[in-house]
Amino acid sequence: MKTTLFHKDFITTEDWSVDELEAMLEAAGELKRRFAFGEAHDHILRSKTLFMLFFEESTRTRNSFESGITQLGGHAIYLTPSATQVGHGENAKDTGMVLERYGHGIAVRDCRTNIGQAYQYELAKFIDIPVISMQDDVDHPCQAMADLMTIKERFGNDLRGRKFVISWTYAPKYVRPLSVPQALIMLMTRFGMDVTLAHPKGFEMMPKCLEAARKHAQENGTKFEIVDDMDAAIKDADIVYAKSWGPIMVTEEPKEVQAMCDQHKQWICDERRMSLAKPSSIYMHCMPIDRGYEATDAVVDGPHSVIYDEAENRLHVQKALMALTMGGRI
Ligand code: CP
Repeated sequence: MKTTLFHKDFITTEDWSVDELEAMLEAAGELKRRFAFGEAHDHILRSKTLFMLFFEESTRTRNSFESGITQLGGHAIYLTPSATQVGHGENAKDTGMVLERYGHGIAVRDCRTNIGQAYQYELAKFIDIPVISMQDDVDHPCQAMADLMTIKERFGNDLRGRKFVISWTYAPKYVRPLSVPQALIMLMTRFGMDVTLAHPKGFEMMPKCLEAARKHAQENGTKFEIVDDMDAAIKDADIVYAKSWGPIMVTEEPKEVQAMCDQHKQWICDERRMSLAKPSSIYMHCMPIDRGYEATDAVVDGPHSVIYDEAENRLHVQKALMALTMGGRI
């Protein structure tokens, strides 16, 4: 296993080679095994500290990072802009260079469009300890890696020829970022899968992410296609990942977003649609799910659903990531 990942930032999977990402998955599998058997592994990051700066709320990300570093023997500190001087405008350099004097890693969730990922690269310019993305405007790399681990658990390591569908769905209430679908198209095209992205007009991804997915598909001999028909996309799929996102390339103004979404209420993952996929297919969602809008309860709680495995695997991949980049020995 490659173990030279000490202090490597994890802002996007694009900055890691396939070998490095495989090393993370291998370590995650080992840590999952130790957790399942109750084998102590709290020597790995003993007395180490991760600062977690959240610009937005979280259930899975916060709790999996916090539990994860505790299990590795370290400690996490939950920060928000209003609980720090970030809210008063302290810049990334000053915040990062001070926190680096106290601890061993800085993780950030910042989904502000055209700001979130740039903030993390700005931090990384000035500090040596790893900067870890807990989701931003471009990528949600820990989610995508947990999803990849879940897919490999179901279908094995050789994913060549598997049809991976990421489909937009309707959802009301708030504007969801593009980072999950973007993370998925960029990562799954590197791991053998044929990727279909489905969405109505207006819900496009950032051009740089589409370009990355096309390049990976070309380099890896996989397929990447974009369609505007949810049924056609799901037909014969092995993996159906159906979730909502906002028309962020067009507008983030809540009323305009809702008006655009409301035109496509029929984009829901239900049992009829899942019956178009292969009988062995899995249904995925990063959660939180807007039940009854993004997917019916029958699908979310049904035999194809692996949503809780995905959520669990956040813990294991993030423990592996912290162990490898913050200086532990697995
Ligand atoms: N999937 C995910 O990142 O969940 P949270 O927003 O609850 O962290």
